[in-house]
Amino acid sequence: MKKILHIVATPRGDDSRTLKVSQAFLERFKRKYPECAIDELNVAAESLPSLSVKMIYGKYVLLGGKELTEKLKEAWNPIERHIERFLLADGYLISSPMWNFGIPYPLKQYIDLIVQPKYLFRYTEKGVEGLVKNRKMVVITSRGGDYSQESPFHAYDFQEPYLRAIFGLVGITDITFVNAQPMDAMGQQVQDKKIEAAKELAKKTADVF
Ligand SMILES: Cc1cc2nc3c(=O)[nH]c(=O)nc-3n(C[C@H](O)[C@H](O)[C@H](O)COP(=O)(O)O)c2cc1C
Repeated sequence: MKKILHIVATPRGDDSRTLKVSQAFLERFKRKYPECAIDELNVAAESLPSLSVKMIYGKYVLLGGKELTEKLKEAWNPIERHIERFLLADGYLISSPMWNFGIPYPLKQYIDLIVQPKYLFRYTEKGVEGLVKNRKMVVITSRGGDYSQESPFHAYDFQEPYLRAIFGLVGITDITFVNAQPMDAMGQQVQDKKIEAAKELAKKTADVF
């Protein structure tokens, strides 16, 4: 593995529980792949381009099987730069808290930028074909509550199913989730225990990444 893209979707820096678990993953990962570059994109701190009407129009041009005109290409420059950066990686780490049962809006904005026809997926007679092949992904999340399989709130987890669906669409199907939960609902002791458990799982995940 030559390069992984670490997409950070929490603005909380050193206070972030998600990033504590991600650090455990990265420390172990760096031991296994000392040569591997880690490109960090903090979508919560960097301002991402907003989708303009022209950019959206370009998406429909591509969906219609046509090429972008020179003018549309110009408007698409920021999208192409982000797609290029995404495709340069051979693996992905996403660090994302749960926000309102789903993902933080800057991560959704990033997904809306990069998931584009012709670049990340295409339509064929057999259906949608993802164009991002042979890449692994690890998603590290933390949540205030508990949405595990056994929890009565499991059905409210729109974060994991959404990320599996959207990255599956573009061809990334080998996705491991490490969810630290509950972080807020059960007090400090439970939080500490669950972070430690998530760190252990993150290290094991790094060993087989
Ligand atoms: C805007 C916002 C929305 C949140 N929504 C949820 C939620 O729907 N469910 C939940 O369990 N926790 C929710 N939380 C709590 C966070 O998921 C939790 O505190 C998490 O550990 C924060 O991660 P971080 O420390 O990496 O930023 C929310 C927090 C914020 C700031």
